[in-house]
Amino acid sequence: MGKVALITGITGQDGSYLTEFLLGRGYDVHGIVRRSSVFTTERIDHLYKDRHESGVKLHLHYGDLLDAISLRRIITQVKPDEVYNLAAQSHVRTSFDQPVYTAEVVAIGTLHLLEAIRDYRDSTGHEVRFYQASSSEMYGRVREIPQNEFTPFYPRSPYACAKIHAYWQTVNYREAYDLFACNGILFNHESPRRGETFVTRKITRAATRIKLGLQETVYLGNLDAKRDWGFAGDYVQAMWLMLQQQDPDDYVVATGETYSVREFLTEAFGYLDLDWEQHIKFDPKYLRPTEVQILQGDASKARNLLGWKPSVNMRDLCRMMIDADMKLAERERTLVDAGFVV
Ligand code: NAP
Ligand code: GDD
Repeated sequence: MGKVALITGITGQDGSYLTEFLLGRGYDVHGIVRRSSVFTTERIDHLYKDRHESGVKLHLHYGDLLDAISLRRIITQVKPDEVYNLAAQSHVRTSFDQPVYTAEVVAIGTLHLLEAIRDYRDSTGHEVRFYQASSSEMYGRVREIPQNEFTPFYPRSPYACAKIHAYWQTVNYREAYDLFACNGILFNHESPRRGETFVTRKITRAATRIKLGLQETVYLGNLDAKRDWGFAGDYVQAMWLMLQQQDPDDYVVATGETYSVREFLTEAFGYLDLDWEQHIKFDPKYLRPTEVQILQGDASKARNLLGWKPSVNMRDLCRMMIDADMKLAERERTLVDAGFVV
């Protein structure tokens, strides 16, 4: 029998790459999907087979991190060996507009899940390994560069505060209840599947559309912020590796390199022979009340203990995203030329 994994946040960027990775390793993958009036499964549609076909390995269940009963029911039905908690209101700027909701999903939602797993394990004797999607955003106002597993947290957003709550709950369930629970402290990771309101994807979408004459301008906020950007496809492998170890632990996952938003812009627009300064305008709407100015991770522990290392640097990541977004822009161009409004 292959292993069974349960993923919250399966419809998100990381959920889709992790699903691909686990299916490739023979897992039965179950994912929790929120009910919505529109389809939200675009990122995993290429992996999904109708349940009436044979050999179906990917199964979706309606549920929500805010609905503890749904989590308990799904865990009892699915009997997972590994649970990956990727679900979150993951947008930092939005967390200033919806702090309570963000805390409920990110902090209390994680607690609902940990409680459900603990009770399931205690009543069945079935060991469940748990991965928590912790974040470099927790470091916030950094005093040391680079950041590692010992760097103190100093949160600068409601999102980061909630992630720190979930981080420590995960540690506490490991220590108090002997749960195999790990935190992956992941630095920013991007891909062609990145949500379009995060800065890298916003830039690659805009640059390709500008190149094809579909728009003129893009509005951005703080161009001086620096991030350690890696490729999501690499980072989900680190999540899996953490759950395959002898003992549970917490790990930083990062490239070790940091670049400003301005440098990312230069790379993206330069690749398309465009001058970004002709097309970028400032909008204070995209500033945060408190900003994280620089993140740069030290992933030595993951490299030494998990044997993990990133395979894509910022330049190649940016080009991968531009190449994918150019295909989207070309399709939009074709529609516009045929008289459709996009
Ligand atoms: P994402 O693309 O925003 O995906 C978030 C997922 O969570 C989506 O599937 C979303 O469902 C789901 N979700 C949101 N609220 C939920 C709720 N109440 N109940 C159930 N599901 C809910 O995020 P991502 O980039 O893949 O990141 C995955 C996780 O890693 C997140 O926890 C994020 O905070 C964390 N993280 C991300 C990064 C990064 O750079 N990407 C770095 C560090 C940590 P819908 O599709 O229905 O919206
Ligand atoms: N989103 C966005 N939109 N960010 C902008 C913009 C803009 O128009 N202009 C400048 N920025 C700056 C932000 O102020 C921030 O300093 C930086 O670009 C990166 O912003 P995001 O791409 O939104 O990512 P983030 O670093 O805030 O959060 C992401 O990474 C975290 C890990 O450190 C998210 O994926 C979080 O979920 C994740 O935990």
